[in-house]
Amino acid sequence: MSARLDGRVALVTGASRGIGAAIARRLAGHGAQVAVHHRRGAEDARAVLATLEGEGHFLVAGDLGDPESARGVVEATVDHYGRLDVLVNNAGVFVQHPPLSTDWDAWVATWNDTLGANLLGPAHTSYWAARHLGEGGRIVNIGSRGAYRGEPNAPAYGAAKAGLHQLTQSLAVALAPRGISVLGIAPGFVETAMARPHLQGAAGDAVRAQSPFDRVATVDEVAYWVLCACMPDAAFASGAIIDVNGASYLRS
Ligand SMILES: NC(=O)c1ccc[n+]([C@@H]2O[C@H](COP(=O)([O-])OP(=O)(O)OC[C@H]3O[C@@H](n4cnc5c(N)ncnc54)[C@H](OP(=O)(O)O)[C@@H]3O)[C@@H](O)[C@H]2O)c1
Repeated sequence: MSARLDGRVALVTGASRGIGAAIARRLAGHGAQVAVHHRRGAEDARAVLATLEGEGHFLVAGDLGDPESARGVVEATVDHYGRLDVLVNNAGVFVQHPPLSTDWDAWVATWNDTLGANLLGPAHTSYWAARHLGEGGRIVNIGSRGAYRGEPNAPAYGAAKAGLHQLTQSLAVALAPRGISVLGIAPGFVETAMARPHLQGAAGDAVRAQSPFDRVATVDEVAYWVLCACMPDAAFASGAIIDVNGASYLRS
């Protein structure tokens, strides 16, 4: 893609590995200065930072399940750069908790942790980012195909991602008068640590066969669409949720 993001500051949450790391690399490769966010993976995040093209990238930490910490991540980025142009809400957790075989304490804890990281975190970072993003500003939320198909073994995940898609659309309307666009990306399975347990053996073959391409997405294929969503010409696509699932699930 020849369009560039020079002079723009992007905060990418959960950029210590997986899809977030690929997004950070894509955005930096197109000229953005990137705040690489992590929670526990400081060493991984430092390694990602070291691979980014260009100058002036920044490391920022915080548990997005904690509202004040979510606020702190945005504010630390703005304090460092003096501006914010792009927020990518990518951080998330996937924990299995089948309703019929999960004990009560684990059920409650998983709902709280999953909604905290996957839905409330993005809501709170967006709240603070909206106070700093200007005309042309962008919020990109990493949702999931699971929001549409359901997640029988991880219902909190499916519910959180459905909520995140709806948050995307609500904020698209609410923030448009400020010139801020809000888009979502809904990947199917992607080759990362989060998906790895589901991609082994016969079960993995079945997952790949969900797509007529007979494979799952690479992190770079997801990062490509995040880059597109961040480009100035994508502003009017605000409110769109872009499927990146290899035609494994089609919705009209
Ligand atoms: N992989 C897939 O198949 C797939 C499919 C559809 C959608 N997605 C979505 O894509 C996004 C990235 O997934 P991934 O596969 O790249 O995941 P991953 O490899 O497990 O990485 C998750 C990232 O999120 C961060 N994180 C998790 N909980 C956090 C919290 N409470 N506060 C702050 N940061 C937190 C982790 O930080 P630390 O490691 O530093 O703790 C890590 O950087 C997620 O939103 C996921 O739901 C993934």
